[in-house]
Amino acid sequence: MCGITGYIGGRQAAPVLLGALEKLEYRGYDSAGVAILEEPGGRLFVRKAEGRLQALAGLLARETPRGALGIGHTRWATHGEPSDDNAHPHTDLSGKIAVVHNGIIENYAPLKEWLQARNVVFKSDTDTEVIVHLVDYYHREDAGRSGIFGAVKKALRRLEGSYALAVISSDFPDRIIAARKDSPLIIGLGQGENLLASDAPALLAHTKTVLYLEERELAALYRDHADVFNEDGERIIRRPETIEWDNESAEKGGFAHFMLKEINEQPRALGNTLRPRLKQAADGALDIHFDELAGAALAEAKRIVITACGTAYHAGLLGKFLFEGLARIPVEVDIASEYRYRNPLSAPGDLFIVISQSGETADTLAAMRLAKKAGGRVIALTNVIGSTLAREADFTVNTLAGPELAVASTKAFTSQLMCLCLLALSLGRDRGRIKGGEFQRLVRALQRIPDQAGDILAKQETVQKFAARHFNKNKVFFMGRQADYCVSMESALKLKEISYTHSEAFAAGELKHGPIALVDPGTLVAAFATQDALFDKIVSNIREATARGAKALVITWEGERAFNAAADEVFFIPKTETPFSPLLSIIPAQLFAYYCAVQKGNDPDKPRNLAKSVTVE
Ligand code: M6R
Repeated sequence: MCGITGYIGGRQAAPVLLGALEKLEYRGYDSAGVAILEEPGGRLFVRKAEGRLQALAGLLARETPRGALGIGHTRWATHGEPSDDNAHPHTDLSGKIAVVHNGIIENYAPLKEWLQARNVVFKSDTDTEVIVHLVDYYHREDAGRSGIFGAVKKALRRLEGSYALAVISSDFPDRIIAARKDSPLIIGLGQGENLLASDAPALLAHTKTVLYLEERELAALYRDHADVFNEDGERIIRRPETIEWDNESAEKGGFAHFMLKEINEQPRALGNTLRPRLKQAADGALDIHFDELAGAALAEAKRIVITACGTAYHAGLLGKFLFEGLARIPVEVDIASEYRYRNPLSAPGDLFIVISQSGETADTLAAMRLAKKAGGRVIALTNVIGSTLAREADFTVNTLAGPELAVASTKAFTSQLMCLCLLALSLGRDRGRIKGGEFQRLVRALQRIPDQAGDILAKQETVQKFAARHFNKNKVFFMGRQADYCVSMESALKLKEISYTHSEAFAAGELKHGPIALVDPGTLVAAFATQDALFDKIVSNIREATARGAKALVITWEGERAFNAAADEVFFIPKTETPFSPLLSIIPAQLFAYYCAVQKGNDPDKPRNLAKSVTVE
């Protein structure tokens, strides 16, 4: 949603904060701001600017503040339109206290009334502003005796909702106070300096040693140390952890956008996901083993329930085909925001798989907590070690895709799929559904996937040229059958979120039951065809669309001729085992979405109205 950061140390805070905000901008980019304690003078220097981070950088270039303590924010608006006034940091009436916040204060309206009744005049329409006035209120109430930490602690007791926040006060020039509830916050420990951020990439240029703040905890950051406290203000000993990602993997590395880089990283990411889980015996036979699932008793599950949002939900839908097809175990898949409110039935023996790239999606976390409350065993499939999901689940499978910064998820999706393929295969073997020879054949097929993904990427110019011809279609429909239908859903999501083209996915057989009414000469229909037994049906569905003036693209196996006559264009992917086709067939669709967005002049990394990590409901 929003990104927050903070710095205290011996260097100038402004460039450090701007650098961190640049890394956090994917979380929100409608306005940004900083508050820096000026030296000399000891006053708070606050600058905020509507729009992208460059607007704030421009302000700071003209008027560079000197000071080695500060906080920063990049915003994705929830309460109050994007504007200079609504941008963070927010300050109290005296201008001595400043707050940055990620999350939503659900009871801000009664708190605002309560504060207004005490003569507080609000300067913004945000929910966040109540926090700074509450801190000021409690600071003054006890004449500053319990310090800024005590005032923040008391203010937090009044808040309902979610927050990761950082507070500074010119009366306490040696510290930053931070706190979290239902929003992520990481403290970076440096040499003679300490930092905080919503996400690890913002810290990597400075340190890899971090403290993860847990639910309802507070922290006080000083130049030479950082203390963690529970909500009652009692000290907690927290062991520092090391982030494995390097700074380089969070850079664009010569690509025009993070999204293009991340699409092109898929061969490596898929290999990284696969390799640690494959074991080879002396006779060359391959085996699958998830060390992290020791004791999870997967094979005893009577049913698997998968919950997730967005792209991760699409991975979950494909997981159903994999687990039901390969391991013959019933699977239910639910959108997390639906699952949490539908009073779901659960039974002993249910195994929950909760999928989330960020591990911080509010709805997904709520679904996981519900599943745990019902007594279920929860396996988290996530890309962020140390995320809330990873820490709260019973078991965590790391997808190992590396940092994904573009808002549109690509390599995280295929790595999630790779994990699901491996899990389904090993479960199929453990349940006696897949025998030795077949198991070996399937595992070897998975082993070839990273190279095959590379083969598709080697032809990306074909997709680029196709996008140049079709980017201005007013409608793009993706269709397919079985797993190809789920790939269509993911393709439509990708295209709509970054190119803003109206795009839908249909189960191909459903076209004639209604959606065909939408097809006209301005429509592009893209059909996925990897289910060999259903090729004739897909040909008929394509003809239904082209007969109404639509242009048709087919994505199918290398060398397949079944669609040559019916389609305007055929894009080929290398042949793999049918259950694994989504790992490859999605790649041309990701590229198509990317190139359409670029053709339209959109920024694919920062699409309008979206944020990478949806940490509010
Ligand atoms: O971090 P998560 O995987 O939990 O995020 C879930 C969705 O918000 C995410 O997949 C979203 O749909 C992406 N923007 C899709 O590209």
